[in-house]
Amino acid sequence: MSSTQPKRFTITSALPYANGPIHIGHLAGVYVPADIYARYQRLKGEEVLFIGGSDEHGVPITIKARQEGKSPQEIVDKFHQIIKQSFKELGISFDIYSRTSAPIHHETASAFFKKMYDQGNFIEKNSQQLYDEETGQFLADRYVTGTCPHCNNDRAYGDQCEKCGTSLNATDLINPRSVLSGNLPVMKETRHWYLPLDQYEVWLKDWILKGHKDDWKTNVYGQCKSWLDQGLQPRAVTRDLDWGVKVPVEGADGKVLYVWFDAPIGYISATRHWASEEPGRDWEKWWKSEDSKLVHFIGKDNIVFHCIIFPAMLHAEGSYIVPDNVPANEFLNLEGDKISTSRNWAVWLHEYLTDFPGKQDVLRYVLTANAPESKDNDFTWKDFQARNNNELLAILGNFINRTLVLTDKYFKGLVPAVDELIPEDEALIEEIASFPKRISISIENYRFREALNELMNLARLGNKYLTEQEPWKKFKEEPVRVGTILNLSLQICANLTVVGEPFLPFTSEKAKEMMNLGSTNWADGGRIDLLTAGHQLNQPAFLFERIDDDAIEAQVQKLQQTKIDNQPKTVEVVPVKSDISYDDFCTMDIRTATILEAEKVPKTKKLLKLKVDTGIDVRTLVSGIAEFYEPENIIGKKVCILANLQAREIKGIVSHGMILMAEDSNHRLTFVSPADEFHNGSTVK
Ligand code: 2FM
Ligand code: ZN
Repeated sequence: MSSTQPKRFTITSALPYANGPIHIGHLAGVYVPADIYARYQRLKGEEVLFIGGSDEHGVPITIKARQEGKSPQEIVDKFHQIIKQSFKELGISFDIYSRTSAPIHHETASAFFKKMYDQGNFIEKNSQQLYDEETGQFLADRYVTGTCPHCNNDRAYGDQCEKCGTSLNATDLINPRSVLSGNLPVMKETRHWYLPLDQYEVWLKDWILKGHKDDWKTNVYGQCKSWLDQGLQPRAVTRDLDWGVKVPVEGADGKVLYVWFDAPIGYISATRHWASEEPGRDWEKWWKSEDSKLVHFIGKDNIVFHCIIFPAMLHAEGSYIVPDNVPANEFLNLEGDKISTSRNWAVWLHEYLTDFPGKQDVLRYVLTANAPESKDNDFTWKDFQARNNNELLAILGNFINRTLVLTDKYFKGLVPAVDELIPEDEALIEEIASFPKRISISIENYRFREALNELMNLARLGNKYLTEQEPWKKFKEEPVRVGTILNLSLQICANLTVVGEPFLPFTSEKAKEMMNLGSTNWADGGRIDLLTAGHQLNQPAFLFERIDDDAIEAQVQKLQQTKIDNQPKTVEVVPVKSDISYDDFCTMDIRTATILEAEKVPKTKKLLKLKVDTGIDVRTLVSGIAEFYEPENIIGKKVCILANLQAREIKGIVSHGMILMAEDSNHRLTFVSPADEFHNGSTVK
């Protein structure tokens, strides 16, 4: 993009892998800032296309599918829906939320590759790659783990070490192991297409190091510089996998595009998807016009792909613009620990929306106030509570509420007129006018925390003015003066809804409704005639509720439980008991049987009362398995029972025999079950 004013904004947000739901780390790093930016530009009257979608290819998806015994398509269908719905509920205002398994994406990515291929932009090379002989599969990316050659982390992946952040090739790993079988891989020859990044080094250096030293964030610029200083190497853009976009050239059977080649093209196919939804929409101007400003919102682990590889692809292809800015954020931690999908160490958006209904803006606020813009940050539930109670409620909500309640009380909800202005009023009006510009500068420079703080300063200003002017003490003697004070306070309320809209869209709408104020745009910010004298306000209501300790404690407990679940399970094998004779063993009559009925024994935690068919009779048993099985899930279950154990009474029920269970060293129980086709009453020896 040139330095002239852009005509339109193409705003992308990293496409999340559809292998799990969205968590607060994704939101703070990418989607909340991107949404603030998109909403702000729209309010300014700019033409905006805000793009999102699910990243549905790559090894993260196929590994998840394997773990769950499902097909990759089933996995992405499930998570695409969950992700899309939860974004919508949080008010992330995408113009399109697409997906990379869509045919339009396959066509777009395939055509992009083909054009580059036809132009001779790739190198074709045979090389030795890691191969799992047992599963007959090449081990790309996350299919292989081993020791990182840079930091010795023994759980590095074939594409990246998550500990030191280095991007790796699978063959770089020391002691590689197949994730599929645990086996030591062998080397096998395969043919792939490479993007010769070294050929774009001069162009990239010129574009980034010279062109964006001052406008890209220090963390982004620094990472790019370090990559460029080390020198770029050709990178394989195809893989031997069967899930992904097929490589569209002869002799590429069984090969797909590398997920990091096809995913960013997903932004383009999402734009084409958007254009296909209504006649007359042109997708190309968003990607091929020099007067479009392309901005990628991403997390720091995606910097190299968005600042080096994708721009090199766009440049090589030849008909596209390149990003104007890539405002990547650092990471958000949770209660002092790295957020992790696999360890379930996260606050999941869909769960938050259920646990805190109607509190979308509280999360948006906390994640922006605490955004990891220049360093990693920590989310804690205590901070979440404090920011709601002491900031949103006590500063913003309280100011708007006080103003509306006083206007209701003294003027029956009719906006009073402004009379003579005193110097304090003049100073206030001047200050009100200065906020939108300051907030604009912060947003346009991707400093969203700073912008939000300014918004709160406007509410603070309002509170200070009310406290100093004390209209409640003056109404009897000076009702006209009180009219002026409340008129100006109401203008601050209206201003808060104007400049607050990108950050807190739900609150802004609710407050506008209370003020009976129609839609506004950014240029209305700073005005002190947004509510004219005589305008009728609606009934005031609270904008925020106090969040009490119990609600926070419940969330902390949830995380505590995750910690317990993640603790390594002890594996201890109980020593063998002393010998018995064969004859002793033969005294036990063990039979196969089927559970016919099951119910909890009242007032006990562990006991189930079972009716079982032993093939000899139908009898009642009491078994201590209620902590491990729900009664309705074990009806019809084949089990083994000790049939000649003396009857005994347990909690008033006579139990005739015992079900055989295996117990592990964590005291978990599981049935010892014969095959289903074994008839009841078969003997066990
Ligand atoms: O890191 C991730 O979650 C990737 N799925 C982001 C892809 S961004 C873009 F290129 F699509
Ligand atoms: Zn490492």
